Amino acid sequence: MSRRRFLKNLGLAGAGLAINPLKSAAQPTNLTPPIKNNPLVISTWIHGMEANAGAWEILGNGGDALDAVNKGVAVTENDLTNRSVGLGGRPDRDGYVTLDACIMDHDSRCGAVAFLEEIIHPIDVARAIMEKTPHVMLVGEGAQQWALENGFTKAKFEVPVPPVQKEFEEWRIKSEYKTGVNVENHDTIGMLALDASGRMAGACTTSGMAYKVRGRVGDSPIIGAGLFIDGDVGGATATGVGEAMIRTAGSASVVESMRRGASPEEACYDIVQRILKKHPGVNEMQVGFLAMNVLGEVGGYSVYDGFNYALRSKEENKMVNAKYFRTWE
Ligand code: GLY
Repeated sequence: MSRRRFLKNLGLAGAGLAINPLKSAAQPTNLTPPIKNNPLVISTWIHGMEANAGAWEILGNGGDALDAVNKGVAVTENDLTNRSVGLGGRPDRDGYVTLDACIMDHDSRCGAVAFLEEIIHPIDVARAIMEKTPHVMLVGEGAQQWALENGFTKAKFEVPVPPVQKEFEEWRIKSEYKTGVNVENHDTIGMLALDASGRMAGACTTSGMAYKVRGRVGDSPIIGAGLFIDGDVGGATATGVGEAMIRTAGSASVVESMRRGASPEEACYDIVQRILKKHPGVNEMQVGFLAMNVLGEVGGYSVYDGFNYALRSKEENKMVNAKYFRTWE
């Protein structure tokens, strides 16, 4: 389906790409997922390459987008050398590694878990919450208790992992809380996938900001902040300092911009500009968004340079540098 026809289906033909935030969005009805037999997956940062490979084992064989994103981000959670996703991540200021994750599909089914400890795959817990409970989100002790009662087990290795423990002891001497997040400190993995049947799904998982206040939860497990999918329109996910995404319902805002006719890149640009305007404190903080629409168009935008994403399709398997507002210098 052409971009023009997509906009027509959204009731936006002739509206061009200009976004008027004061106009209410036309509500798409009875849209058929337009792109078929053209699976695609994108995910944040360089760790997205291996995660996409995991997702592609499903997408490339005609499998379901939800299974693909679940399997894809689990690859990153499994990597104990990753310092911002999974149990290899950096701890909070009290020395505990706490994990946040969520998952969502084209039918707005979603599950989330936050402040979860000692379980290797929070994304599997998030999915199980979606599939086995009437709820969307469980947190902390209750989430762990539910997970243990539902077949999950505690990790059998030391957490934080020994190199992280050493780093933490060094950090504790000064206990400075810094929120710098960029290519050298990768942050969240957020993944969006479109499968061969035209279904979209997304997943997001992180150990959150290093040395955060105990109990802090960022954007990554919050539907609408760190991840949002609308099977009629597209999806978005975020990386960086989660407080900015929560304050703006960042990922949901990106999807709503696309609903009004913005391209994925324009929609990501739009939310970054809004964050910069409303939150001057975003100086020194990286915030990046990644989006995909149901046409299979993708785009990203960040406050600072350095944000990149991995893309895998039938034709391509590569890293893409997102556009950005300013450089670190
Ligand atoms: N974006 C991850 C976090 O702020 O926790």
